[in-house]
Amino acid sequence: MTTYKIAVVGGSGPQGKALAYRFAGAGHTVTLGSRSAERAEVAAEAVNAKLAGNGVVGAADNGTALQGADVVLLAVPYEGHAELVASLAGNLAGKVLISCVNPLGFDKRGPYGLDVAESAAEEAARLAPAATVVGAFHHLSAPNLWASADLLDHEDVLVCGDDSGAKAVAIELAKAVTGRDGVDAGALRLARQLEPLTAVLISINKAYKTRSGVRISGLPE
Ligand SMILES: NC(=O)c1ccc[n+]([C@@H]2O[C@H](COP(=O)([O-])OP(=O)(O)OC[C@H]3O[C@@H](n4cnc5c(N)ncnc54)[C@H](OP(=O)(O)O)[C@@H]3O)[C@@H](O)[C@H]2O)c1
Repeated sequence: MTTYKIAVVGGSGPQGKALAYRFAGAGHTVTLGSRSAERAEVAAEAVNAKLAGNGVVGAADNGTALQGADVVLLAVPYEGHAELVASLAGNLAGKVLISCVNPLGFDKRGPYGLDVAESAAEEAARLAPAATVVGAFHHLSAPNLWASADLLDHEDVLVCGDDSGAKAVAIELAKAVTGRDGVDAGALRLARQLEPLTAVLISINKAYKTRSGVRISGLPE
């Protein structure tokens, strides 16, 4: 297994924290980032308590967290995403940037994919052109990731991107969550389909009072 140095931008939120827990538990080196180093510290304390010695995560402001990382997980809300990525573009140069950002809206009829001109992942690629962007981990629920250390082996991680090397990184990192390689779902533009699919899952969760996920059939063993 390749061990990656991973920075989580937005690591104080449930999704960043929970994926950090999984990555660190699988042996990767993880630093949680936040706009406030103090909030990152609080989140890191929670993750480290949960890891109970099976890994340890660090904490810093977002910009500092990126230093020394070879992989960056972007786990911030779509609102504010463009400004944040633009502000970090210089620090993101040369890194694999994995976006799990879902541009979603909610109204009285439930969740829906926002009508956006480009996916969040494509937006990140445009705003941080010296990073190599992939989309992945959109469909895993933070509560499921956080609930236990058991592998979510009934779910698949769908990965899209235009660079095969960067995609291979996310495909390998998926093992920390599902125990299996992620699934190569195609080009980065397919993030336009993957991101809003999360609205369907949230809707199913509401209807069935569950935490649904995605599993692809027909793959070779
Ligand atoms: N939650 C889930 O189950 C889940 C599942 C799949 C995908 N996702 C996606 O993962 C991303 C993160 O989800 P989340 O639930 O963890 O989100 P969140 O709690 O709303 O936000 C995560 C962190 O982002 C930072 N942040 C908030 N607003 C920001 C802004 N305007 N600019 C820069 N940073 C900001 C905050 O950290 P600081 O204030 O400390 O900087 C916050 O703790 C979202 O795009 C979501 O669609 C979430």
